Amino acid sequence: MTDRTLVLVKPDGVARGLVGEVVSRLEAKGLRLVAAELRTLTREVAEEHYGEHREKPFFGSLVDFITGGPLLALVVEGPRAVEAFRALAGATDPVKAAPGTIRGDFALEVQSNIVHGSDSAESAAREIGLFFPDL
Ligand code: CMP
Repeated sequence: MTDRTLVLVKPDGVARGLVGEVVSRLEAKGLRLVAAELRTLTREVAEEHYGEHREKPFFGSLVDFITGGPLLALVVEGPRAVEAFRALAGATDPVKAAPGTIRGDFALEVQSNIVHGSDSAESAAREIGLFFPDL
């Protein structure tokens, strides 16, 4: 069964030149690229993307961060793609993320944690629809 998930290389990952590293890791795992676009998010799209965090104390700062520069939005597919990419990304808090994962290898702070991956099939469908409505 082939699933799709939304992956973002966040503005910190793009600024640090980690796009190639992230794409290389997910391709090496066997996930396939379906769509890719470098773009700077508007606040409206960022607030919708992170809508479930609207009441969290870090919401404003998260929207500032994610709109603060270009990010690479990707749709990738493969067997259990949501779960597969989240395993590659590692825990949300990079200090707790295992070495060998993207966050475990390249980040230290929970906000600037290099990548985003949809957390469920339902989130993936919603997020892919938001970023790539033509897919
Ligand atoms: P992501 O997987 O994109 O999902 C929500 C994002 O919110 C998360 O990665 C982090 O970038 C950010 N985040 C989660 N928890 C915190 C926190 N305690 N403080 C600041 N940012 C956070």
